[in-house]
Formats: sequence, structure tokens, C-alpha cells
Amino acid sequence: MTDLATLELDLINAIGAATTVAEVEAVRVAALGKTGAISGLLKGMGAMSPEERREQGPVINGLRDRVTGAIAARKAELEAAELDARLAAEHVDLTLPARPRRKGGVHPTMQVMDEMIAVFAGMGFAVAEGPDIEDDFHNFTALNFPPKHPAREMHDTFFLQPDPETGERKVLRTHTSPVQVRTMMSQQPPIRIIAPGRTFRKDSDATHTPMFHQIEGLVIGKDIHMGHLKTTLKEFVARFFELDDVDARFRPHHFPFTEPSAEMDIRCDRPKPENGGKLVLNQGDDWLEILGCGMVHPNVLRSCGIDPDQWQGFAFGMGVDRLAMLKYGVADLRPMFEADVRWLAHYGFSAFAAPNPASGLS
Ligand code: DAH
Repeated sequence: MTDLATLELDLINAIGAATTVAEVEAVRVAALGKTGAISGLLKGMGAMSPEERREQGPVINGLRDRVTGAIAARKAELEAAELDARLAAEHVDLTLPARPRRKGGVHPTMQVMDEMIAVFAGMGFAVAEGPDIEDDFHNFTALNFPPKHPAREMHDTFFLQPDPETGERKVLRTHTSPVQVRTMMSQQPPIRIIAPGRTFRKDSDATHTPMFHQIEGLVIGKDIHMGHLKTTLKEFVARFFELDDVDARFRPHHFPFTEPSAEMDIRCDRPKPENGGKLVLNQGDDWLEILGCGMVHPNVLRSCGIDPDQWQGFAFGMGVDRLAMLKYGVADLRPMFEADVRWLAHYGFSAFAAPNPASGLS
């Protein structure tokens, strides 16, 4: 056999033996690439005498054409096979049921917080914020807590480790009232703010969790009095529960940071079988406590650098989670913070149901 015949046979065998397009390509490069065997023969034709070329030319060109053809044919064959394999592997079964799409939900506490913010925003309140980790001054001292007040004790409050240098003990804020202090220390009256946020106490039962949420309110002006307090809070409750009027009472109470202080109760009928197991507001002969409030104590104003002979005002604070439970019929507070998606799927709100007093809150 001539050398050319051997070369052709080898190449045709190699092409036939290739099982992937990449293997065929390797043969092509070996034969027809820049330094390939056939390319070398074609180049060698330049140095031949005209007679030699006339004789060898058609032989070499024939070889090149046959090998090129074999490569193209094998490539096409393998490409078709690869496509078939992919089609078989990747085919879509249109009869399969669609995968369920999980929808997120807005937590009732956050929904209610947004509702409250919407109501107070409508009454001209701005939103103020403060840190979850507070110092003794903002959480207690500036709010007129006496040195031995029980809230300053370890059994009620979460304290951080004392600072090794200063000995200062920071505290997880026990209420949102420190935001009052921060606001009064950083801006001049008149002031009209609410402060929603997380709060912390060592409490755990069906209606208390160690972390919970409050909204604080503060209004300071030249002539703000109890009448403003009562009207503002009654109006808030009416809008929040979507009632025309509110049958409320202000029961004397004590808070260190207000004088006089009160708790606001709404007339209610407790859940019982006759009213469908639901709490009914404005009816019955029971009272539901919903918030604490009062006229800001002159000592608090003084601690914040505000002259109590010039300025006065009222403050209030309420539990957001508790109002969420009341409004949306959640029986136990604890699962609210256990992050169980089944609970959230049941009690959660659509992210598109943003509270808007104009179109109904919820
Ligand atoms: N800080 C009080 C608490 O956590 C709530 C409160 C009561 C806030 C009366 C006030 C207020 O601003 O005037 O129980």
C-alpha cells in the first residue's frame, strides 16, 4: 500500500472511531490543521515539478476531499446523536402539575404597626426612632425613674455585661419612651412624634413575650393639655378599630414620667359564645385596657433641656402586638415570634394590603 493509502485508511478509521464531535475535531486538526498531515502534503506540491504536480495533485486533492467529506459526515452524525440525547434527557413533561409558589406574608405585628403609623401620620405625627440597646440615662433616669424603681432590677429587665472600663450597664430598652428623651434632646418644641419599635422584658406567658413591640407618642407645645390627649387617643382608637365613636375612660394610674398619669380603657364585651367568641368594642359592661398616657412630667422636660414653664405636653405608650391580637383575633402571643411559616400563612397579610386610612385600614 502506498503511504497515501495508509494515511487515508488511518484517518478514515480514526474518524469512524470518534465518538464525540470533539474527537472528530481532533482528527481534523491532525489532518487538515496548520501542521496537519494532509496540509503538509498540499504545501509540498509547491516544490514539485509540473509533471509531478500533474500526477500527484489530483491524488492529494482527492485524499483531502474524501477526508474532509468523512469528517463532515461523522460530525453531522454525532451532532444529531448528541441532540437526540439532549432532547431525550431534557424533555419537558407538560403533564406534571406546576410547582406550588410560596407567597410571603406581612406579619400581623408589622401590619398593625403600619396601620398605627398611617393613622397617626394622618394626624400630623412624624415617626422617630431610637436604639434597641439603651443606656440607663435614656431608659430610666431622664424619664424620672427613682433609683430603686423595680424596672431597674435584674429580675424585670435585660442588662448587658457592664463595660469593663466605665462599669456602665447598657439595657435592652424596656419601653419606647427613651425615644421621647432622644427627640426632646435633639429637636426644639413644638414636637409631635410617634416612636414604633422593639422592646424587651423578662416576661413570658400567653400575653407576654420577652421581645415585643410598642408605639410611643409625644406631643409638646405651649398649651397642650389633657383635652388634647383624650381627643387624640380617642380619635386614634376610633380610626384604628374603624369605629364611629369610642366609649373610653381614662383611669388614674402612675408612671414616673407623667403627671397626672392614666390608663385608657375601652368599653367592651369579652369574647363569649353569644357574640361568636369575639371581643366586641363599645358594648357591654367590661373595660379593655389599651394604653398608658399622661402629661409629661416637668422633671422629664427639665432632663431634656426643655423649660417646663414654657412648654408642656402629653405622652402615651401602647403595645402593638397586643392590639394586633385584639384586632385580628390571635389568641396566644407566643407563636407570633416562633417564626412558624404555617402560622404566618394563616395570620399574615398580603404585601399589597398596605394600610391606607383613605381606603380602609385593612
Ligand atoms: N412606657 C410605658 C410602658 O412601657 C408606657 C407609657 C405610659 C408610655 C405612659 C408613656 C406614657 O409615654 O405617658 O408601660
